[in-house]
Amino acid sequence: MQDSETIDLIDDTPIARAAQAAVQAVGRTGEGLPRPAATRVMVVANQKGGVGKTTTTVNLAASLALHGLRVLVIDLDPQGNASTALGIDHHAEVPSIYDVLVEGKPLADVVQPVVDVEGLFCCPATIDLAGAEIELVSLVARESRLQRAIAAYEQPLDYILIDCPPSLGLLTVNALVAGQEVLIPIQCEYYALEGLGQLLRNVELVRAHLNPVLHVSTILLTMYDARTRLASQVAEEVRTHFEREVLSTAIPRSVRISEAPSYGQTVLTYDPGSTGALSYLEAARELALRGAPGAAEAPAAGFGGVGQQRNGAGGQPAPVAQHSTEENR
Ligand SMILES: Nc1ncnc2c1ncn2[C@@H]1O[C@H](COP(=O)(O)OP(=O)(O)OP(=O)(O)O)[C@@H](O)[C@H]1O
Ligand SMILES: [Mg+2]
Repeated sequence: MQDSETIDLIDDTPIARAAQAAVQAVGRTGEGLPRPAATRVMVVANQKGGVGKTTTTVNLAASLALHGLRVLVIDLDPQGNASTALGIDHHAEVPSIYDVLVEGKPLADVVQPVVDVEGLFCCPATIDLAGAEIELVSLVARESRLQRAIAAYEQPLDYILIDCPPSLGLLTVNALVAGQEVLIPIQCEYYALEGLGQLLRNVELVRAHLNPVLHVSTILLTMYDARTRLASQVAEEVRTHFEREVLSTAIPRSVRISEAPSYGQTVLTYDPGSTGALSYLEAARELALRGAPGAAEAPAAGFGGVGQQRNGAGGQPAPVAQHSTEENR
């Protein structure tokens, strides 16, 4: 990647680093990204907990919006972490995705603009959503309620990113029925691929019965620590099995990324020059270029069985954004 050298060149003194990084970040966000021909609805899913689904959703969304695209984040997790990270209030009385799914409220009535990032919007989740898995069971068209709500939403959007909970229940099924693409974040740790087979089988099932356009278009390696052999082994394993889907940008483990949500911010506004911010900008760029009109079609999901594979022999490190000093920032 052309930008990995620039990331590595950042001087390791705070002021120099901040100055250099800010210049880089401004330069990066100033460039446009292609607008997709139609709204890309991307489901960020992995039933394994804590792999970076929410972090990826909010930071990719902010990166795309900073490039001038219009982006909606739908928080589909009762934990409401995406809402928190975007600075959106989500106490129990706030109109939320629960009202949309269970009460049939229009999406437009619950969507809120994200302060600080023009073009970025959020549909929050409240704790009410915890009961929705059960309440949805008895409702008409229980698997396609989100899809219907999105279809009825008339605001122009370039991207919709749906942050799923760490389960494969009805909420995640609603997301899979509503989206065209699945984005799977994979944490570069042991057991990284465990459970992936189940997710891929569910994608296949939804594709076969409910949503023929659904496919796994994107895999993003998260929390990559270039100093560990394990991370490079996992990255290599994933790249071997999902050659076309894996973005060449890997997201490094970064203190700045993990701090940002406690300030109600994405890392893009919290510390725009940090390697975490730069790596999400880079991942967003890759994502947008892949989905540009005229870009090669992403492969359809057809991964029978490979998700069951576990970490294998050693391999090469992921090619970008491995800035080992970041962990200490
Ligand atoms: N690149 C990173 N560097 C450091 N910490 C990270 C990084 N990505 C995510 N984290 C931290 O790891 C934790 C889990 O991340 P996140 O909440 O995004 O995962 P998740 O898959 O959405 O979790 P859940 O399954 O509970 O919804 C969080 O504390 C987050 O701040
Ligand atoms: Mg989450």
